[in-house]
Amino acid sequence: GNYEIGLIGLSVMGQNLALNIARNHSIAVYNRTTSKTKDFMDNKVENQEIKAAYDLEEFISSLTKPRKIMLMIKAGKPVDLVIDSLLPHLDENDIIIDGGNSHFEDTNRRQKNLAEKGINYLGVGISGGEYGALHGPSIMPGGTKAAYAEVSEILEDAAAKTEKGACVSYLGPKSAGHYVKMVHNGIEYGIMEVLAEIYDFMRKILKLEAEEIGDIFAEWNQDFDSYLVEITAKIMKKEDPKTDQKLINMILDKAKHKGTGKWSVQSALDLGTAIPTINAGVNARLMSAIKEERIKNAEQFEKSQNRELAKENLIKKLKSALYFASVIAYAEGFKLLKTASEEYDYNLNYKEIARIWEDGCIIRSGLLEPIQKAFAAEMQLDTLITAEQFKSKLVNSAADLKEIINEAAESELPLTALHAAADYFNSLKSEKMPANLIQAQRDFFGAHTYQRLDAEGTFHTEWE
Ligand code: 6PG
Repeated sequence: GNYEIGLIGLSVMGQNLALNIARNHSIAVYNRTTSKTKDFMDNKVENQEIKAAYDLEEFISSLTKPRKIMLMIKAGKPVDLVIDSLLPHLDENDIIIDGGNSHFEDTNRRQKNLAEKGINYLGVGISGGEYGALHGPSIMPGGTKAAYAEVSEILEDAAAKTEKGACVSYLGPKSAGHYVKMVHNGIEYGIMEVLAEIYDFMRKILKLEAEEIGDIFAEWNQDFDSYLVEITAKIMKKEDPKTDQKLINMILDKAKHKGTGKWSVQSALDLGTAIPTINAGVNARLMSAIKEERIKNAEQFEKSQNRELAKENLIKKLKSALYFASVIAYAEGFKLLKTASEEYDYNLNYKEIARIWEDGCIIRSGLLEPIQKAFAAEMQLDTLITAEQFKSKLVNSAADLKEIINEAAESELPLTALHAAADYFNSLKSEKMPANLIQAQRDFFGAHTYQRLDAEGTFHTEWE
């Protein structure tokens, strides 16, 4: 065969990525449901060099060797099934590229199994939604360097571009790429929740209409230059074609999720590191999901009273709160990456990760430039909160966030992620924490021992 790459899975993401790749490289596509392939060829493909294959053998024989096969299919079992169906047709040195949100441990397992058969497996995180897939996503590849070298040109051509280059870079061995994508999504969950809480404050406490809230987010975004702030502003202004309301006012407040945020938290717990703001993003979605119970509970409690407020002042403070909590969400994410990199020998380059997140992906924002500077100054920086780019700004915005938190407390408004971000910052800069009491309690009831400030070794006390 003479097609440079093949792609399996013609969901919207797969279709768009195929069209994107086809701008620079010849590509064959395959989908198990053949009507989807036909539909794609009839309606989306114009004169690009795309070959539609209607059975797997035809697909595989159309590819040049070593074959490069990109999977754009649902994470989990479907990936294993497709790999199994491919295996009998593959030769040594062929490369499977998993472009979905696979769990990093699945990626490790598949890499290991396939390596025994001489087949390369790259775990590649791709961010940017439908638009990014078509016009240039951020691409986060991991696996062997040699396998990456075979596909680097194709991925570079497909990726978003900034003046610093293509938003793709070899991130590390094994599941490094999928791990980084998972943490990208964790940060995404955190910032989305922060934006949701600020919106909630504006509508419930400041009594602002969606239209006004949209204006405020749009104005702020001149400073933030953040994709998530940008779409939030646009969402606020969208009319509902079915009613005379804004669409946002008609959407049920029950959030769904497909796992990557939860996995970030699970992995952080496994590695013994805390990512409370990201965790808050997951928790808030879980609380939102029990809508029916919330409605029943709400009937049993009194509503808090309206208060007289200085709106302009609080809007300014909300902007600081958004800055603060966004920085903290990235800080937690990079901390998790560092912990994972050390534990799993990913050898991650944090500056490079921030660079490839600067365009194409969902968490692209103006903060990624100072984050790169912070890691340029100190490659193994423990936490972004002490970086010169953020330190004093965090201190100033923390003071503003305090006012928001106090006001929300008066109104009994939950601010799960904003509280978590403030507490993360306060914990990280606490010389003393009350864990001396935890240790004493553990020793009291279970003789778990404790260490002392003034002597080496472990101690136990008969407390009664
Ligand atoms: C991206 C996104 C994407 C993710 C969706 C939905 O980077 O393009 O992270 O990969 O699948 O955002 O995630 P949830 O359904 O879990 O919210």
